[in-house]
Amino acid sequence: PPMEAVLAAPDLAVIAKKALTPKAWAFYSSAATDLITYGKNKELVQRLMIRPRVLRNVKDVSFERDILGFKSRAPFFISPTAMARLAHPDGELAVARGASNEGIIQCISSNASYTLKSIVNAAPPEQPFFFQLYVNSERQKTADLLRTVRDLGIKAIFVTVDAPVPGKREADERAAQAIKIRSAISGGESSKDKKGSGLGRLMAQYIEKALTWDDLEWIRETSGLPIVLKGVQTAEDAKLAVKYGVDAIMLSNHGGRSLDGAQASILVLLELRKNCPEVFESLEVYIDGGFERGSDILKAICLGATAVGVGRPYLYSLVYGQDGVEHLTQILKDELEVSMRLCGITSLDQANPSLINTLDIEHL
Ligand code: FNR
Repeated sequence: PPMEAVLAAPDLAVIAKKALTPKAWAFYSSAATDLITYGKNKELVQRLMIRPRVLRNVKDVSFERDILGFKSRAPFFISPTAMARLAHPDGELAVARGASNEGIIQCISSNASYTLKSIVNAAPPEQPFFFQLYVNSERQKTADLLRTVRDLGIKAIFVTVDAPVPGKREADERAAQAIKIRSAISGGESSKDKKGSGLGRLMAQYIEKALTWDDLEWIRETSGLPIVLKGVQTAEDAKLAVKYGVDAIMLSNHGGRSLDGAQASILVLLELRKNCPEVFESLEVYIDGGFERGSDILKAICLGATAVGVGRPYLYSLVYGQDGVEHLTQILKDELEVSMRLCGITSLDQANPSLINTLDIEHL
């Protein structure tokens, strides 16, 4: 269908399912085993209810936000996802151009299908980028990669900590029987192993399983960049993140692709508010998993998140290439603006927990 017919992020999943190859669809859409965490991510965000205030002059609205000190025209960014080229020949380049035109930030995956240099150069020099890191079990390769990242002017390292091994994504394993594909950055290459040949599993083979908190300092020193932990899922680990001096944490379960049954991301946000509210004073908190609407994003911001990551919807938007990336971004911005006006706020500074009724999911 023409892109103008796309009114919302969920429309894109329907279109992508038809437009993509079965293997690409399986890789993008799949999640671990019974899809419990995948489903709960979205469901529990939806079960938060907004408490709108009225009669507050909502004529002029702005929703700009600094993310790690970098200007973003909206309080959301593009979560790192592998292999954008499976959706469009321009892959991550189209994402970079679209994000830059819309003034939002792209976090580039370690398993991107274009080189870092080509992605960064696809946007004007002033456009900020973040980089998501999987540490290679051959540490020297990671050291080299981090120097490249630094030299390219990338602004921060998102160390993914929720996937020392890949989750069991059965749809991916069924579909990806013989696909041959190579990551442009990590060099991770597909080859069958006896557990199957799902793309996710194949691309994860190089990942260091022995990583610990004490390795973070090495990553920081080698890159000279701020460190964000992507995949924090408990208050305990949020406190450790503060102790180890990381710059931000991202509450994430890999979109339900890692440990099935892990608690929904929004529950982690509530857990932090309850058990370690002081964490929010020490570092920025981001969140992703199941955020598909401007109102979803607003809920997380009200509950203390600095920004929200959006993953699959951007991959699906690539059916329309760069235009799709821009269209989806405009939809999310429009929805956010309408939601802000309808709940009586005109800037994100006014977003606060009293605007959210969490009762329905508080006992979870
Ligand atoms: C991912 N995700 C991911 N995360 C990461 O740290 N490195 C990666 O290479 C990838 N690759 C990847 C591929 C695909 C196809 C998907 C769907 C996801 C996880 C991603 O960053 C993010 O956490 C989730 O996608 C967020 O959930 P939603 O927005 O997809 O619901």
